[in-house]
Amino acid sequence: MIQTVATTPFSDQKPGTSGLRKKVRIFQQPHYAENFVQSVFDSLEGFEGQTLVVGGDGRYLNREVIQIVLKMAAANGFGRVLVGKGGILSTPAASHLIRASSAFGGLVLSASHNPGGPDEDFGIKYNVSNGGPAPEKVTDAIHARTLAIDSYRILQAEDVDIDRLGTSKLGGMAVEVVDPVAAYADLMEQLFDFAAIRTMIAEGFTFSFDSMSAVTGPYAVEIFEKRLGAPAGTVQNATPLPDFGHHHPDPNLVHAKELYDRMMAADAPDFGAASDGDGDRNLIIGRHCYVTPSDSLAVLAANAHLAPGYASGLKGIARSMPTSGAADRVAEKLGIPLYETPTGWKFFGNLLDAGMATICGEESAGTGSDHVREKDGIWAVLLWLNILAVRRQSVAEIMAEHWATYGRNYYARHDYEAIAKDRADGLMAALRDKLATLPATVNSGGTVKSADDFAYTDPTDQSVSRSQGVRLLFEDGSRIVFRLSGTGTEGATLRVYIERYVGEDNELGLETADALAPLVRAAQEVADIAGFTGMERPSVIT
Ligand code: G6P
Ligand code: ZN
Repeated sequence: MIQTVATTPFSDQKPGTSGLRKKVRIFQQPHYAENFVQSVFDSLEGFEGQTLVVGGDGRYLNREVIQIVLKMAAANGFGRVLVGKGGILSTPAASHLIRASSAFGGLVLSASHNPGGPDEDFGIKYNVSNGGPAPEKVTDAIHARTLAIDSYRILQAEDVDIDRLGTSKLGGMAVEVVDPVAAYADLMEQLFDFAAIRTMIAEGFTFSFDSMSAVTGPYAVEIFEKRLGAPAGTVQNATPLPDFGHHHPDPNLVHAKELYDRMMAADAPDFGAASDGDGDRNLIIGRHCYVTPSDSLAVLAANAHLAPGYASGLKGIARSMPTSGAADRVAEKLGIPLYETPTGWKFFGNLLDAGMATICGEESAGTGSDHVREKDGIWAVLLWLNILAVRRQSVAEIMAEHWATYGRNYYARHDYEAIAKDRADGLMAALRDKLATLPATVNSGGTVKSADDFAYTDPTDQSVSRSQGVRLLFEDGSRIVFRLSGTGTEGATLRVYIERYVGEDNELGLETADALAPLVRAAQEVADIAGFTGMERPSVIT
């Protein structure tokens, strides 16, 4: 029943920031998904008889690739596969399931916040036994294997019914179809004071959560509406759709504009939030008060002790390099370490495993903790709700107090999308070439203290990651960072991160755009963005 199929390598299967992401039509080429899955298995050792977790965000191609994975896992010798009912598992729920079932690893099928549908994106990511994305040495091995592969193994069998809970046999392997929500919701109930949140809601606190027709729908309905008693309809766009209802399931001010408008209206609810395609990102908006992801990380870290799961305090905080330094000030005050890692959740895994950090976050709307090894959108929303239920203040009041205590890091990210790859590479190469002379060439924005190309040495295993972004550090604590996105599927995206710090008794109430204007000009000049890209302004500002 096991078939060995001859194949030839594809040259474009290098995993990026977060696994292999490509257009659906690329994945639909004969052998494409199979080659990648076999390359993953070929790069691993010792999984015979072990458990593999499989699930995805329900996007177009999810079900088809799940059947392929099941048949290939059986042919390659896994003992058991746990698959979410209907093929559904949010990324954080998959991480939890891998950990809770002591699985060897998991395949998470998602392209995260990228759109879904026949003309849009799909992705496959391999997570290791700690529940987190594979580290670079594993993804490098997978990539090397994709370039040499000449055959894959697959079981010839009928499709498995993944819509009915229970266990069946596929060749010599057991397939268990599990409830994707229950274990995850139970974990949340252990970490947070559900009774306090329930009381706050019963007393009239109003809340709106946008699942963006993506994977968090069933999780949010179970947790917010059923377990916490929020009224039906609190969760919007709650049914996961293969094309996310033609929406772009990225919870930012552009794609979650409906939520933003609702939160800025005269009759806005007290609290609004959204998550992305696979449920690991979060957007937090209080009544008339948007919270940047970098600020959200800082506030969550400063107040985490108010939730039962974090009552004994934090071991450390970790943030990606482009994320603002707001959390650094919290760490300083708490007297705990702050780690600065490259972009990509995978870099937090070792710190969490080693017990060096408890809370992690990124400017790209990701926050999470050591409860799993992925960022977790619903977790962030629940921690906010727990804090609000204890402090009984509005989000705006909490932010104002936070800035008055720690100062404020004004922050924005400017994205220049769909640039020809060679032009984007040229821009970065030119910046790197003039690193030594950069300070002298910046005409506006303040005095540059230093410029470098960020490199990270993992403190747990001393592995080094270089070329993680060009940084300009100013004397007053302001920063400009340039890097190319590692998650796009077509062309290149230049990300420019701009940050200005003002102390606690300074100008705390400026408009972000005004506060950052001189730095934005400096960034455009120093990198000659218009010259390289032909774009006078960014395509997206978040
Ligand atoms: C994914 C990763 C994050 C990362 C983000 C942005 O969501 O899980 O860790 O911060 O992509 O990555 P990019 O390379 O596009 O800036
Ligand atoms: Zn995501």
